[in-house]
Amino acid sequence: STYNFILTSRPEPNVSLITLNRPKALNALSTPLMLEINKALDEAENDADIGAIVLTGSERAFAAGADIKEMKDKQFAEVYTSDFLQNWTRITQVRKPIIAAVSGYALGGGCELAMACDIILASPTAVFGQPEINLGIIPGAGGTQRLTHAIGKSRAMEIVLTGRNFSAKEAEAWGLVSRVVGEGEGEVVKEALKMASTIASKGRISVQAAKEAVNSAYELPLGEGLRLERRLFHPLFATNDQKEGMGAFAEKRKANFTNN
Ligand code: HXC
Repeated sequence: STYNFILTSRPEPNVSLITLNRPKALNALSTPLMLEINKALDEAENDADIGAIVLTGSERAFAAGADIKEMKDKQFAEVYTSDFLQNWTRITQVRKPIIAAVSGYALGGGCELAMACDIILASPTAVFGQPEINLGIIPGAGGTQRLTHAIGKSRAMEIVLTGRNFSAKEAEAWGLVSRVVGEGEGEVVKEALKMASTIASKGRISVQAAKEAVNSAYELPLGEGLRLERRLFHPLFATNDQKEGMGAFAEKRKANFTNN
């Protein structure tokens, strides 16, 4: 497919890279841009060769938020009846792992987009924030929920209520990102692709089950989450990948998963 606001590529045989590419607007996440992300996610999800997805922006901006110019004149009736921001749900339904590689600004919807991914890697230049309060609104694509789960109530309240930005270092200390990578242009994407390759080399079925199980920790009470985990664990013994993985260990060789 050809896109206007994103670039897609396959820099590793089993990894799809989606690059936000609206540089003049610091990758502001307009509706047309979100629809393109969703289409690219659909393509990656439906491509049996792809085992993991990396989502990134530019050195200057992962994304500076939803498109303020697009939202500025919207009225309540319109946003309500059209369920404005429903386009943001698709990414949360993708079953393959998505790694956000964040350089520069990840503000408002940009921060929320990164948090909708499974893993966030940050460049030392990354700047996170939920500045919506400065615009007379609140985060609308998961910011009040995912940020609170990730960094705790007091910090999330501070960030959401003051609208101040926070650094890559803070994001790492607070557990929002799994790691800040070294300096250097392109470093965060390189690291994300490496991680995505590693994930893509595992069995697809167990990777998908693992993602579903970890995500359920956000949705379910502990007892229900543990029950779901067990229900996802048992059927893996019906897969060839389990026989291969454990067989390879016993034979002291590297497993070669066939995703069945
Ligand atoms: C539309 C945006 C934009 C945005 C930047 N631009 N962010 N356009 N929506 N969110 C545009 C600017 O208007 C400008 O266009 C160009 O990108 C470059 O931006 P500058 O402001 O000139 O760059 P700089 O001075 O370096 O400042 C960078 C910045 C600032 C600090 C990131 O752009 C900024 O504060 N942006 C808004 C951040 C924000 O409030 N995000 C939350 C949005 S609300 P021109 O045409 O002038 O060159 C949101 C709601 C979420 O996300 C709801 C759920 C999705």
